[in-house]
Amino acid sequence: MTTMETFNLLQPYRIAEETFVIPWALEAPPVGHFPMNSMVIRGAEPVLVDTGAPAVRAQWLEAAWSVVDPLDVRWIFLTHDDRDHAGNLLSVLAECPNATLLTTWFSIGRMAEEWETPINRCRFMIDGDTVDVGDRTLVAKRPPLYDNPTTRALFDPKTDVLWAVDTFATNVPTPIPEIADLSADEFRDGQFFGGRLVSPWVALLDGQKFRAVVDDFQRLDAEVIAGCHTPVLRGPQKAEAFDLLRRLPGIPAWPEFTQADLDQWMAVAEGSVPPEQPRPSAT
Ligand SMILES: [Fe+2]
Ligand SMILES: [Fe+2]
Repeated sequence: MTTMETFNLLQPYRIAEETFVIPWALEAPPVGHFPMNSMVIRGAEPVLVDTGAPAVRAQWLEAAWSVVDPLDVRWIFLTHDDRDHAGNLLSVLAECPNATLLTTWFSIGRMAEEWETPINRCRFMIDGDTVDVGDRTLVAKRPPLYDNPTTRALFDPKTDVLWAVDTFATNVPTPIPEIADLSADEFRDGQFFGGRLVSPWVALLDGQKFRAVVDDFQRLDAEVIAGCHTPVLRGPQKAEAFDLLRRLPGIPAWPEFTQADLDQWMAVAEGSVPPEQPRPSAT
């Protein structure tokens, strides 16, 4: 584990009592980096919140087991089946034989294209459901923005920590633990960019209806907001982030990068882009 002074990717840091973020990030030129986090609640019955990305599987598992003994893990809350959240699920299930997977019918189905999830280890936890994990009762709630229909956020009323999943996604100039480390412009621009990137359908929404959804999520009254693609939000940044979220339906859609952009990047890179590696021949 680490302190704020020694923030490093894949070194868990404490964000609340017995609650740790496992930080990772992807370089995302030309917009900086995107956080790719997971969370551990080390309560009476330890909970993993998402399972990290397959690109750093061994390091992610090592990071998680630096916080909690895998044999002690009792619950794995899978927010949704996207690979950045579920990519190490089978390894985690194998290393945590005492854990129950909190997921949904549709997530299991969506993952079946790649693996068979052992349904005897599953418990369905849909929007609005709660689970007693010994010393706290966790609440699943669909967040305002998401990029997968199975998504549920997780609220811990004991610490008032909210795992917002893909809501509040933002690019960052460099990986950081707390969103307060961004400038005001970086914070606003990041929320507007990340929100529209993750959920381009936000432009289609009735602003009034969406505001009611955001209000409902805000009424959880989280003390700390963490998420897969955002540094941790606290204090005034929370209300500000909710305000920015409410404004998203009124903002023009984010114009995607085009082939012209790619051509320009390739021209700048000139000969420094390595030739495509030969693919293994299909057998
Ligand atoms: Fe996602
Ligand atoms: Fe995600």
